[in-house]
Amino acid sequence: MEKKQFPLFVLIVVSVLLGVILTQMFTGYTFMDILPSRFNGSETNKFSLFSITPIKHSKHLMVSAFIDHRINKAIRVISIIRRDSLQPLYCIYCNNDDNCQTAEAEVQIHSDHFGFPYAASDVLCDGAHTQDAAFVSISTSRNISAIYSEDLLPIKNTVTRESFKFNFSVCISNLFGSYNNVLQFVQTMEMYKLLGVQHVVIYNTSCGPDLEKLLQHYKKEGILEIVPWPIDHFLNPSKGWNFVEHGGDLHYYGQLVNLNECIYRNMYQSKYVLLNDIDEIIMPYKHANLPLLMEDLQQEHRDVGVFLIENHIFPKTQFEETGRFNRSEWRGIPGINIMEHIYREPDRKNVFNPRKLIINPRSVIQTSVHSTLQQYGDVYYVPFDVSHIVHVRVPLQGHLTKEQLAVDTRVWDFEQELISNVDKTLQASDLLKITD
Ligand SMILES: *[C@@H]1O[C@H](CO)[C@@H](O)[C@H](O)[C@H]1NC(C)=O
Ligand SMILES: *[C@@H]1O[C@H](CO)[C@@H](O)[C@H](O)[C@H]1NC(C)=O
Ligand SMILES: *[C@@H]1O[C@H](CO)[C@@H](O)[C@H](O)[C@H]1NC(C)=O
Ligand SMILES: *[C@@H]1O[C@H](CO)[C@@H](O)[C@H](O)[C@H]1NC(C)=O
Repeated sequence: MEKKQFPLFVLIVVSVLLGVILTQMFTGYTFMDILPSRFNGSETNKFSLFSITPIKHSKHLMVSAFIDHRINKAIRVISIIRRDSLQPLYCIYCNNDDNCQTAEAEVQIHSDHFGFPYAASDVLCDGAHTQDAAFVSISTSRNISAIYSEDLLPIKNTVTRESFKFNFSVCISNLFGSYNNVLQFVQTMEMYKLLGVQHVVIYNTSCGPDLEKLLQHYKKEGILEIVPWPIDHFLNPSKGWNFVEHGGDLHYYGQLVNLNECIYRNMYQSKYVLLNDIDEIIMPYKHANLPLLMEDLQQEHRDVGVFLIENHIFPKTQFEETGRFNRSEWRGIPGINIMEHIYREPDRKNVFNPRKLIINPRSVIQTSVHSTLQQYGDVYYVPFDVSHIVHVRVPLQGHLTKEQLAVDTRVWDFEQELISNVDKTLQASDLLKITD
């Protein structure tokens, strides 16, 4: 008797579990949840499930929609606009009770487009009841019925917050090609964690096979938010920053779109946001970490919302002499070992050191790569000796000998924890086999 009932019992347990899992799957499907009744079942009406959505009957693309509480709760849609194909655009937006409105859209093309045909842009809609809107579409028609045939974007930042899930988030603009610089990536991520960063956002077009493992690990760990960025499915993105030199449709795989999107994405989520590249570390030199640095800077400069940090090049071609960080367990890991590159290029007369940014996202309207384009508060240039960027890469002044470079071993101050955390992460990512 007991033997016969056992399989039945197992079957019941399995079906109950399956039921729970399926229910969770469907109730967790938030797009369906908030899809208003009259759109249900319609094949042509859906929320766009992608991070890039064509605006129908146009050459333009839309990315994400936000309420901007600073400008009368207008709807701001981060978009990619083809500059030579401007046409009247409208927002059609609806609340959760299915009440829809239209408003004429104001297209603001960012001034930094570097000559490319497509540019990072804001499509702004200031109309009645935008504060209650739950989803929006950009349309070439002002007829409200057009909403039935448009792709819809959910509207984010519907409520403001004054306390944040994160104190420091880093926005890394984009990954593309077969980028597989694992060692520098893991060292940089672990360095950021030691400096007080809790959240990193990365826009992924593609990457190499080993870096993929590391990204999956960080995603699982929870520190890394990966935004799919299949820009190459829609445009011919440029691998460079200048249209005349590099050609293509859009600056650097859409870097400017990513940076702006990331600011709004983090506006009520993170106290500060760092805008820098994957191979750059914004390093405090007089404080133990970023919270202590920003506490002092913000106290001294209360009205500042944008802090500019100088970039400095540490050539990957110059190795420190002792070889103490030439660690056997890292020899099979692809990429640059930043701990071996402690020689910093000197400033050049009449050459400007580019800067990257630490911002209060609530004070920024539009950003470029090395400065913001529009902001509310003041801008402050952080002195070199307080903080500068450690940027290990190919030299800019490749003719200089080691003796002509400055020694800067700041990364070594974190040596013990950094090495141990890097090794743990490489192991957890299945990139490093434990040998002992
Ligand atoms: C709006 O579009 C609907 C559906 O295509 C159409 O029936 C209606 O006549 C249009 N209204 C106007 C004012 O053009
Ligand atoms: C952010 O900083 C505050 C003040 O130092 C601290 O109380 C809080 O725990 C920090 N939040 C996170 C997510 O670390
Ligand atoms: C990054 O994008 C590529 C191409 O779509 C994809 O194959 C890969 O799985 C993505 N990686 C992560 C970690 O999301
Ligand atoms: C690191 O050590 C290995 C093994 O001793 C050696 O082959 C390699 O040249 C060293 N690398 C550097 C940059 O010194």
